Amino acid sequence: MRTVILPGGDQVPALGQGTWRMGERPAQRDDEIRALREGVGLGMTLVDTAEMYGDGAAETLIGEALGTVRDQLFLVSKAYPQNAGRERLAVACENSLRRLGTDRLDLYLLHWRGSVPLGETVLAMEALQAAGKIRNWGVSNLDVDDMEELIAAGGNGCAANQLLYNLTRRGPEHSLLPWLDGRHIPVMAYSPIEQGRLLSNATLRRVAETIGATPAQVALAWAMHRDDVIAIPKAGTVAHVRENRAAADLVLSQDDLAALDAAFPRPGARRPLEML
Ligand SMILES: NC(=O)c1ccc[n+]([C@@H]2O[C@H](COP(=O)([O-])OP(=O)(O)OC[C@H]3O[C@@H](n4cnc5c(N)ncnc54)[C@H](OP(=O)(O)O)[C@@H]3O)[C@@H](O)[C@H]2O)c1
Repeated sequence: MRTVILPGGDQVPALGQGTWRMGERPAQRDDEIRALREGVGLGMTLVDTAEMYGDGAAETLIGEALGTVRDQLFLVSKAYPQNAGRERLAVACENSLRRLGTDRLDLYLLHWRGSVPLGETVLAMEALQAAGKIRNWGVSNLDVDDMEELIAAGGNGCAANQLLYNLTRRGPEHSLLPWLDGRHIPVMAYSPIEQGRLLSNATLRRVAETIGATPAQVALAWAMHRDDVIAIPKAGTVAHVRENRAAADLVLSQDDLAALDAAFPRPGARRPLEML
């Protein structure tokens, strides 16, 4: 599995597992647990979650599914913006740790920007880091202006920015990805198959057929083809997990990339950052 090195030195797989909407439907619980375990067994040991997902239900599911292999994992969770102040972040973090059944998060992210000043969130994250509750901290859904403000507010320790990035959401390539690249801050690409909506695209299907892959594999390989991008697809079945894992070994040719560029053009101008 190709890896990405975070600014603090931690090495993580370039393909992880998302968990939004997991743990919410009892009928799917066993499949979801099997899927997460299969993914970890296949090297997708980075697991992304958030206190928001199912009001903590996704974190609880992860704790149940992966508690026995905690030390193999790189656990990422996210705090609501309204919890990103000094006191509330410590409480939110403790709640996430309890649901996950662990004593530390490997990466803790501000889920999106709210009204708490970024400088206060930086101090709150650093306090959690000093206390050993989190190993790294970062952000999500922050555009260039916000990132500049974050750095100016003392946020040089930011370890990642989790963004909506896939073939149909290439806006970040204009300004944000070069900005992050210049500061060696990795990107976590969320909704890398656009929640499944991408998979019926004719060009994607054609490229996939030509190289003997599936549309999901091509979409994931595309998201990961840039250095320092970690893709975090959510898959609720073992079959989807296995299919997605193979994408990490798929190398797209210049011809494949050109065909995808033609169908999903690069942004010609800066656009506001999109989020789901
Ligand atoms: N920071 C943020 O604001 C933010 C926002 C959105 C998402 N995220 C994170 O990013 C993760 C991924 O994004 P996402 O869940 O929105 O969307 P996604 O990963 O692009 O798509 C998930 C959907 O695709 C399906 N799928 C997965 N693998 C497939 C395959 N090989 N073939 C066909 N269908 C497949 C899944 O179905 P099954 O479940 O049936 O497998 C699910 O319906 C989230 O789970 C979450 O952890 C973060």
